[in-house]
Amino acid sequence: MTEPASRIERLAFPAGDGDLRELAELLVDAVAAGAAVSFLWPLTQADARAWWERTLAAAPPRAVFLVARDADGIAGTVQLQPAWAPNQPHRAEIAKLLVHRRARGRGLGTLLMDAIEAEARNGGFRLLTLDARRGAAAERLYRKRGWTCVGAIPEYALDPDGVTPHDAVVFYKRLDGRVRDEGAGPWPQRGHVSHR
Ligand SMILES: CC(C)(COP(=O)(O)OP(=O)(O)OC[C@H]1O[C@@H](n2cnc3c(N)ncnc32)[C@H](O)[C@@H]1OP(=O)(O)O)[C@@H](O)C(=O)NCCC(=O)NCCS
Repeated sequence: MTEPASRIERLAFPAGDGDLRELAELLVDAVAAGAAVSFLWPLTQADARAWWERTLAAAPPRAVFLVARDADGIAGTVQLQPAWAPNQPHRAEIAKLLVHRRARGRGLGTLLMDAIEAEARNGGFRLLTLDARRGAAAERLYRKRGWTCVGAIPEYALDPDGVTPHDAVVFYKRLDGRVRDEGAGPWPQRGHVSHR
């Protein structure tokens, strides 16, 4: 596999006009190629940009947005979105892993996942969750990177054609190295005795 000629960095806040344009182009490219990333085709550059602007404006303080840049601009991105719930301070969602078609198949998606997992560890998160379209390249990528597949939800969303349903495969990854058999019951609570 050829090494990706890209550097990965945190997106600067507030995002500049050029970065917003390139992020919008990246999202449009992914949807045009049939990716299941929330949107239907056609997706205009203006609508894609508006989504990025809303998402960045709404990002909580612990959110992280990574971008990979090559000679033509932003070639890839991924984001870490902390769970909003007060009882899940240790959990974050990994979202919108996108690599432009010009840069795929050279390991950039893998590098972005490694980088966002490192950011999650550094940010104190211990549990990551995400979902992917069943059968997509992303599903294989997550399996290879050690994510645990929980199962599939049938006909969870529609392809960009707005007609064809696809299943979603749900994954998690623990960052503290602990493993547990499914159905093993709750984790033992350290120093905690329940009185009911
Ligand atoms: C998923 C995606 C980010 C992968 O990016 P990438 O830079 O091509 O990924 P990599 O080169 O690091 O490949 C990683 C692994 O993914 C799998 N993969 C990537 N592209 C693949 C393809 N076209 N066909 C089959 N497997 C593929 C392989 O397992 C690959 O590892 P391997 O080549 O060592 O076997 C990219 O295809 C993409 O942007 N897709 C559209 C958006 C999307 O679906 N995002 C995920 C939302 S959950």
